[in-house]
Amino acid sequence: MATAKSVTIISDKYLNQMRLECDPLADDAVSAAVRYHGERVLKCHELYSTIKELGETYQDPSCARFLEFYEHEPPWNVDWEKCDSGRRFFVRNSAIAGLVLMYCSLVKSFTAAFGNKVLTAMGRMTAYGDVRRRLFETLHFVKEVVLGAPGDIKAECTRVRLLHAAVRYYVQHHDNRWEVEKYGYPINQEDLAGTLSTFSSVVLRGLELLGVMATDSEKYGYQQLWKFVGYYLGTENDLLCDSYEEEKNLSDLISSRQCNPDKDSLLLTESLLQAFASKSPFHLSYDTTSKLSRHLINDKDLANKLHLRTFGLLGQTAMTLFYVFLRLFVVIQRIVYPVEWVMYAFGKYSLKSLVELSLNGRKPSYLMKAHS
Ligand code: HEM
Repeated sequence: MATAKSVTIISDKYLNQMRLECDPLADDAVSAAVRYHGERVLKCHELYSTIKELGETYQDPSCARFLEFYEHEPPWNVDWEKCDSGRRFFVRNSAIAGLVLMYCSLVKSFTAAFGNKVLTAMGRMTAYGDVRRRLFETLHFVKEVVLGAPGDIKAECTRVRLLHAAVRYYVQHHDNRWEVEKYGYPINQEDLAGTLSTFSSVVLRGLELLGVMATDSEKYGYQQLWKFVGYYLGTENDLLCDSYEEEKNLSDLISSRQCNPDKDSLLLTESLLQAFASKSPFHLSYDTTSKLSRHLINDKDLANKLHLRTFGLLGQTAMTLFYVFLRLFVVIQRIVYPVEWVMYAFGKYSLKSLVELSLNGRKPSYLMKAHS
């Protein structure tokens, strides 16, 4: 089966259609669970085990189809050796990559005025929610992607995909303010592809802005790793890209259609900056992270619309020195193997400890919580 179409055939018209496409495999399984057990199953820890039981014991066809999907490999050959070099690059630089994920990728995703409506509707990312826990749970997911075996990644994707389907069900049945004609369906295919790129090519671009350059082979491997994730999260094959460049172009196309900050973008950005201001893991002030975010977004107009602060001369000089330091350091990592090894071991240890500490040693519940 062919996958990943060149962006030239991904037109505005096609992406408009994708706003009306969701994930029938997961949506049907969740609807079946609701038919058998009522809507309380949506907010219950056992959503996955319920679907498993319905599929395996009661032979419910929708649940069985959903489970069967995970027994197969993707329709392309996943080059795990390349993926490993991409994940090694991420783990080695995980502290800086974490900054990029939060203050570039996430903030950029908030600027999608139609996509962000699901986040405000659920409320977890707002001041009324539990922003820190929500993001540490997402960090746990990222940790599994960069450190876990393929089977662990699939298992995480299964649960998050069902959570997305539960959110979709909930919003469509309980949020009477939701306007499909305007926003498309919640967590639709265009939003899935755009968000997938914020974990993948957008991270690589943010790292480059800070001086952390990946080789072409690392970029390819990292992008292919997230392509695997996208597949098991229910993204359409046509929206899964074959290369870093292709994904970058698709991401730009989606941004040009969707990034148009509104009051929800401001609200979500403010909640994020406030929730992590002068706290772990980075212990950076509100002021610094607001300026860093502007630097990483690298789009003056977008940053102005989000009311992000600007580095003064001193800050800009510090960022330039930081850039030079990181560029040199990455070169050293490449030529002095023991440095690379130590950086990887340290990155792995830090990532695991941070997730462990911030979630108090518990695994994420991937439970739907509505705070609105
Ligand atoms: C394909 C890329 C995506 C990835 C890797 C991803 C990852 C995740 C993860 C790991 C969680 C669990 C977090 C937790 O339980 O605390 C989650 C939950 C959630 N995701 Fe996604 N997601 C993606 C796409 C999207 C999109 C496109 C939307 C909406 C526009 C979305 C909206 C949500 C919502 C509403 C939740 C439930 C938690 C909440 O209420 O905030 N996700 N996602």
